[in-house]
Amino acid sequence: MNIAVVGTGYVGLVSGTCFAESGNEVVCVDIDRARIDALNAGIIPIYEPGLEELVRRNIKERRLSFTCDLRAAVEQSMVSFVSVGTPMSPNGAADLTGVFSVSEEIARAAKGYHIIAIKSTVPVGTNDRIRERIKPIANSRIDVCSVPEFLKEGSAVEDFMRPDRVVIGSSSEQATAILREIHAPFVRTDNPILVMHPRSAELTKYASNAMLALRISFINQMANLCEAVGAEINDVRRGMGADRRIGSQFLFPGVGYGGSCFPKDVQALIHSAAEHHLEFTMLKATDEVNARQKRLLFERVQQHFGPDLTGRCFAIWGLAFKPRTDDMREAPSLVMIEELLKAHARVQVHDPEALENARKIFGDRVSYHRTNYEALSQADALIILTEWNEFRHPNFQRIRAELKQPVIFDGRNLYDPALMKALEFRYYSIGRRPI
Ligand SMILES: NC(=O)c1ccc[n+]([C@@H]2O[C@H](COP(=O)([O-])OP(=O)(O)OC[C@H]3O[C@@H](n4cnc5c(N)ncnc54)[C@H](O)[C@@H]3O)[C@@H](O)[C@H]2O)c1
Repeated sequence: MNIAVVGTGYVGLVSGTCFAESGNEVVCVDIDRARIDALNAGIIPIYEPGLEELVRRNIKERRLSFTCDLRAAVEQSMVSFVSVGTPMSPNGAADLTGVFSVSEEIARAAKGYHIIAIKSTVPVGTNDRIRERIKPIANSRIDVCSVPEFLKEGSAVEDFMRPDRVVIGSSSEQATAILREIHAPFVRTDNPILVMHPRSAELTKYASNAMLALRISFINQMANLCEAVGAEINDVRRGMGADRRIGSQFLFPGVGYGGSCFPKDVQALIHSAAEHHLEFTMLKATDEVNARQKRLLFERVQQHFGPDLTGRCFAIWGLAFKPRTDDMREAPSLVMIEELLKAHARVQVHDPEALENARKIFGDRVSYHRTNYEALSQADALIILTEWNEFRHPNFQRIRAELKQPVIFDGRNLYDPALMKALEFRYYSIGRRPI
């Protein structure tokens, strides 16, 4: 099948590459010329495990190419996947400018029967709005479908290749058959392809992200209660998670959720509900708890060192909103670093993949370090914000030697408080029983 994928970010690049890997001929389109030139030279603009090898192989085998020419890409394809960003507008709603303009461009360019498959996360009713917008401009019959994407950054290729489910929102039998065929190679182990009305598909994506965000805020608030009453969140979490009705995933307390999806999708769903005169109180609380949680560790720092941090220096391990990605959008590290700087502290940062993105945000306001130990040099304390694997078993003697004082603020509960006590660290974590 000839496929166009518009938008070559985390979703578009991974989807396009995986479609090519399963034998399709895929043209990926982006308005960002530098990104397209880099991709054509085999340079991958994002960090995603396993992606680079797949991109290079499929370019070599001529199943994958990159262009800024949307018209040419659409003309030679039967299906165009739209995977451009849908960022948060100032009022919390999803900004659909890109999705609308790309869909209209596709409609103008399509020569024969064509499917516009919306992979971007869009509020319920967007497919209908696109259908209305393209009606006067389309030259051929076009079906608009919703194919929301559920991949996670950090394991995006793996998730795309082996999804728990594929959701197809379609009111057209022809489009459903074609989209089923495209996705069939990824569900060989009988995970379901769920076909439903486009409105239900659109909402399924938001419902999934909202539930995951809600679980994180729930466990974070539970962790805070654990601290207040002298309970251990890890025991509570395991005890809850062993119940198969609850399950153990997304119940890890920390410094709040970030990333390009949960914060904006929670806001967008609150906004969609409000448009239909419903107050989504649960999600408002989810968001509020999260905002509070992102500040919690900084408040601990101030409790330990006092409110004015002038002359203090802090090492930060982990900037990305989660491990195995370079993505810093809405990351808890942004809140922590801004607060430390506001309190006149110096900040020395390390992240295995996100340093380049951090540099674009903070410029020369912080110092950047290639290794985690370099970042510690003469700092008053270590603050851990992302649970990269390489932070799990560090050389604690070296940490002690590099830091001015043996103090660790661990926003991801990486270490055993008993061990920290034995090693004579002052150790702060989230929701743990004091030792
Ligand atoms: N990142 C994730 O983990 C994830 C997971 C599931 C769903 N989603 C959703 O998928 C969508 C894309 O997310 P992302 O993280 O891949 O975004 P991204 O910001 O990484 O990439 C978007 C890409 O689209 C390009 N673009 C913007 N306007 C364009 C236009 N008019 N024509 C061509 N290209 C254009 C940008 O240059 C950019 O390369 C969003 O709606 C998001 O909510 C994201």
